[in-house]
Amino acid sequence: MNIHDLLNSMTLKEKLGQMTQLPPHFFLSLSDTEVFGEKRTLYLSHDDILSTGSILGVGSAKEMVTIQSLILEKSRLKIPALFMADIIHGYQTIFPIPLAQAASFNPNLVKRMNEISALEASTCGIHVTFSPMVDLSRDARWGRVMEGFGEDPLLNQVMAKASIDGYHKGKPTDVGYLATCFKHFAAYGASESGRDYNSVDMSYERFHNLYRPSYQAAIDAKSEMVMLAFNTFNGVPSTINKTLTQNILKDTMHFKGVIISDYDALHQTIAHGAAKDDFDAARLGIEAGLDIEMASSAYLEHGEDLISKQKVSIDDINASVLKILELKQSLGLFEDPFKGASELREKTLLKTSLHFEEAEKLSYESPVLLKNDGVLPLKSSSKIALIGPFSKTRSLLGAWHWHGNIKDCNTYEETAKNLSVDVTYVSESLDINDIHNQLDLFDVILLMIGEPQHESGEAKSKVGIHIDPNIKTFIDYANSKHKPVVAVIHGGRPLVLDAILDANAIMMTWFLGSRHTEVVMKLLLGLKNPSGKLPMSFPRHVGQLPLSYHDFNTGRPYDPIHNEYTTKYLDVHLSPLFVFGFGLSYTKMNIKVHDIKTHWDGIHPLEITYTMTNSNDISGDEVIQVYGSIHPSIPVRPLKKLISYEKIHLKPFESKTQTIKLFEKDFILYNESGNIVMTPGTMTLHIGFNPYELHTLTLEWSPS
Ligand code: GLC
Repeated sequence: MNIHDLLNSMTLKEKLGQMTQLPPHFFLSLSDTEVFGEKRTLYLSHDDILSTGSILGVGSAKEMVTIQSLILEKSRLKIPALFMADIIHGYQTIFPIPLAQAASFNPNLVKRMNEISALEASTCGIHVTFSPMVDLSRDARWGRVMEGFGEDPLLNQVMAKASIDGYHKGKPTDVGYLATCFKHFAAYGASESGRDYNSVDMSYERFHNLYRPSYQAAIDAKSEMVMLAFNTFNGVPSTINKTLTQNILKDTMHFKGVIISDYDALHQTIAHGAAKDDFDAARLGIEAGLDIEMASSAYLEHGEDLISKQKVSIDDINASVLKILELKQSLGLFEDPFKGASELREKTLLKTSLHFEEAEKLSYESPVLLKNDGVLPLKSSSKIALIGPFSKTRSLLGAWHWHGNIKDCNTYEETAKNLSVDVTYVSESLDINDIHNQLDLFDVILLMIGEPQHESGEAKSKVGIHIDPNIKTFIDYANSKHKPVVAVIHGGRPLVLDAILDANAIMMTWFLGSRHTEVVMKLLLGLKNPSGKLPMSFPRHVGQLPLSYHDFNTGRPYDPIHNEYTTKYLDVHLSPLFVFGFGLSYTKMNIKVHDIKTHWDGIHPLEITYTMTNSNDISGDEVIQVYGSIHPSIPVRPLKKLISYEKIHLKPFESKTQTIKLFEKDFILYNESGNIVMTPGTMTLHIGFNPYELHTLTLEWSPS
């Protein structure tokens, strides 16, 4: 297909149709696809609808074939539509929420999860996924932290690349290859007060140093599309923000792909107070280089008028349509518009036992062990009680679980029985009066608590992120009866855990998808050794948010002994309760960091050699983290920034000596204009198992 000839043969209305994405219910009366926004009435003709360039989600191969056939048979030019959907952490086989994926610190697992998701999505003819969501965030009040990869720029970069590499299995024309649309540009994770859709204001220096890296990693991994964010960025809605789309995305970050709005976001620039009406919104969108508007029709309704009144340039419209046609061509849609959509493939490839087995294996490294006084691993002979609101639930898929079904999740009791372990459901209530003396019958209590899956995700911001303080009463009661308590926490965000610190053990299990209970029970029983690390810090109090290990010294650093006038809170310690990068396992590793040179020229690799030893009779994994800082520096650098990490597996009693090589690129610092400003100076490197358990090395970086 010669797409330049095709473009030249299109009417203006047909071009505007290609720049429009509609949900399937405009084509099908009974689509079972959920859309994540209001289904506004759009005033579109039958021809307008048939000219649509892409469809937002479909529920099955049958739906896709019906819609695509309608477009190919009834439209004048028979341009196949792109089918896009939110395949975020699984299609029908559901994997851990992305925040839990990040907790594994293992990109290979994430890549494999997305390969499976892409294969399953291909059975329904999905061509593009609105994933990965790479919005760095440090504010657990924002419900969408579950959908991203946490607070750290490097971990976000690693996971962004792994996600896209997984979806991009094979060639773009292959069935099972899923094009990607990274999101949400820009800095949606910094929504003010953690309130979804709220304004975002920051210096461009902060944007470039904190938020840009994950978006850049997606661009460098050849993500085909980007979705603009709902929020204003420095006073201008991202959807029509030319500084973002032109100066930063295209000129500075060299993104050449398709730019799509979020759901109805172009129309919503009116509510923002930026556009006067849809005519104005369409003008602003075209001027900003917004190639596709999702779930609204400003382009179709006003595009011709804008051209006739010379308010916008046809060259801009042609440039957008050409990019859309190029994407369709790259995916082979002109040759094979249905590309994999098949009811037979749905029957044979969705939710297979192999996929579920892989889902289990790929999830073991996500849960994070935060405390263990030795009560874990549980003895398989123990009599175990299940108590708390999550004792019987199957709602363990997490938000954004697309066509996953909670019926695929076994309850903890079902899984325990399958493992021949003596586990008894006692009560969802934690009221001691409901439990009476039943605790006497058991050796250990699994306290199944947390935040329900429907309380995180989009439009789910909360300030009440603390665990119910009354749970402390239950723990104290159990302790009074000498019954150890293991707090098993579920949730899509960091929670305030101060009420349960007296539990004997604490494990954050997130939402792990289709095989959640199998993974958690096998970790609690020691059949697998926990190795997860926190991708986001857990605060002592919600008032600390936004919060991160990645903090600045300030001019008056915290000093409780010598100076009252230092940065602190009067009522809460300024550090996180559990810090990014922290996580325990059943093996305690030891590390010896070898001396390094006291001078680095910035040209040859800076080598850090360490020896890690497993002094236990079971194998285990540990994440060696390297944090660095350089001073003096303008702009100032945080005290610690993760610049490299390795996840190492050691057999029983094994030692390994490894060398981490660092380069100048690992210390990149941007200024306000997005230019790299690297100033040699005194370098402080910290190596260890989390930002607080570290060996510190100091050296001079000077070019000479
Ligand atoms: C939603 C989300 C976005 C998603 C889109 C399509 O509102 O903000 O992440 O991809 O709409 O469902």
